[in-house]
Parts: sequence; C-alpha cells; structure tokens
Amino acid sequence: MENGNLKLALQKKGRLSDRSIELLKHCGLDIETYSERLMVTVRNYNVDLLFLRDDDIPEYVQDGVADIGIVGEDVVYEKQSDIIVSEKLGFGRCRLMIAAPNDNVPEEPSDLKGKTIATSYPNILKKYLAENKIDSKVIEISGSVEIAPSLGVADLICDIVSTGTTLMMNKLKKSFTVFESEAVLISNKWLQEDKEKYAVLNDLLLRIRSVLSAKNSKYLMMNVPKKNLDKVIGLIPSLKSPTILHLADEESLAVHAVIPSEQFWKIIGDLKAAGASGILLFPIENMII
Ligand code: PRP
Ligand code: ZN
Repeated sequence: MENGNLKLALQKKGRLSDRSIELLKHCGLDIETYSERLMVTVRNYNVDLLFLRDDDIPEYVQDGVADIGIVGEDVVYEKQSDIIVSEKLGFGRCRLMIAAPNDNVPEEPSDLKGKTIATSYPNILKKYLAENKIDSKVIEISGSVEIAPSLGVADLICDIVSTGTTLMMNKLKKSFTVFESEAVLISNKWLQEDKEKYAVLNDLLLRIRSVLSAKNSKYLMMNVPKKNLDKVIGLIPSLKSPTILHLADEESLAVHAVIPSEQFWKIIGDLKAAGASGILLFPIENMII
C-alpha cells in the first residue's frame, strides 16, 4: 500500500518486539493491538508498522520495501545489507557467544581449532575466526541452533545469549563472546530523496533521542545549608548548571539539577554528609537538549 507514510519494520515475535513498541509509544505514537496483523497504521503519525522476521528486516530496508527498521546489530552485521544505522536504541542488549555442552567448554579462541561450530551467524563467526587465524568448520543452521550438539551435528554453537535461559535449558554453557549487540534504528540509503518521509524520520529520531536521554536522566531536588552550597554543587554531576532557589528558611537554599540516573546512588552519601536534606529524585518523561 503506497499512502506516502514512512514504513517502519519491526520484529514480529521475539526479544525486540515488546521493547520496540514500548519505545514508539513513549514517542507519542498511538499504536493499537498489533499481535495478529502484518501491517498497522499509526493513527496520529505518518507511519505504517510492518511486522516481519527480524532476519529479513535489513534486506527489506535496503530494497525499500520498508523505509526504516528496528533490529539487532547482530542481524545488521550478519546480513551485510547496504543500509544506514541511524541510532543505537539502548535496549535488546545481547551477546553472540560460543557455547558448548557442559563438560567441553573452550576457554579461549584457540580452543576452537578443528571444531565444528553450528550457527545462524556464519558471516560474523567466519570473520571472527579469520581475524583470530583459527581453522574451524562452520555449519549454518537457520533456527534452534542450540540442539545441534545433542544431535551430534556440531561440537559447539555460536548463538545469541540474552538471559542465558535457552542455553541452560539445553545443558549448554557459555564460553566467550564473539560479538556484542543492541537494537538499532536502520534506514534506507535513499530515503533523503523523499522529502516528506525524510522529515518524518527526522522528527521520529528527535523524539527517540529525547526519550532515550530522559530515560538516562533524573531530576534531583534537595535543600542545602547556604554555607555548604559550593561543596554540594561540586558533588553534582549535572548535565547543565544546577538551579538555585531561595527558601523561606534563610539558612538554606533549594538546589535542582538533572543528573545521569546511575550517578544518584554514588553521590547520595556525600550529599547527606554535606548537609543536604529533603532529597527527592524524579523521573523525566522527555528531554529535548
Ligand atoms: C535468540 C537466540 C535464542 C535466544 C536467547 O533468539 O536464538 O533463542 O535469543 O535468549 P536467552 O539467552 O534470553 O534465552 P532471537 O530473539 O534473536 O530470535 P530468532 O533467533 O528467532 O531470530
Ligand atoms: Zn532472528
């Protein structure tokens, strides 16, 4: 259907599906139930969502069947499609790892020599082996790679590990990492030539970046004795200069600042030691820097 909308490809069913939809909803896109349909039009935005197998997404974006897509870097690098990676999305983190039956786990890359390795990622694995000058046999399997060792098809596997549940259920143990991945937004190389669609992409990227930076930041508020103000300001890893407000109590000031979320627990002890009180930490919904 050619309605001029930007076509965004998403993984139909898998590790990235729910988080991709969640990100788009945080960006203000009004998305209805999507579970059974191949294509969904977003009601309040010029985007159509296409639900596809993740392995197919880079090629569809390269060929222009979809204009943009959300997919793992693992698939992007494996497929070697000619697309642009527009943004890293900070979720769907996983590792492509060597894994083996519990009693036979390689400790370092040279232990792979002479082994047979089953994988759905032959390109990434072969590149890794070549770079490390290791001679192993790679067998390409498109799904359920984890059962290859028990079937006697391969000594080892090279597959995606996220929580580790799949390996555990198949009595496999992880060895070392070949490639690290997270979800990315990819786009078609020629999209710039379609002014309207390109404008929608840029607006979407602005929204995504504001959601991502808001997620990584928190709004910190506290009261500080006037005499300790410099000390407290020195402790705050603020993204911008903190805001200082007067209080009815003339001995104290209120200090407000936006800080990186992960810093809070590192500075809280020092803030209290510097006399900060009434410390509040708020989530930020959106942040346009
Ligand atoms: C990967 C991999 C495992 C699973 C591992 O599949 O093939 O099945 O994730 O995750 P775990 O460590 O949390 O158990 P993916 O979601 O990439 O889907 P696909 O292989 O069907 O494309
Ligand atoms: Zn896949």
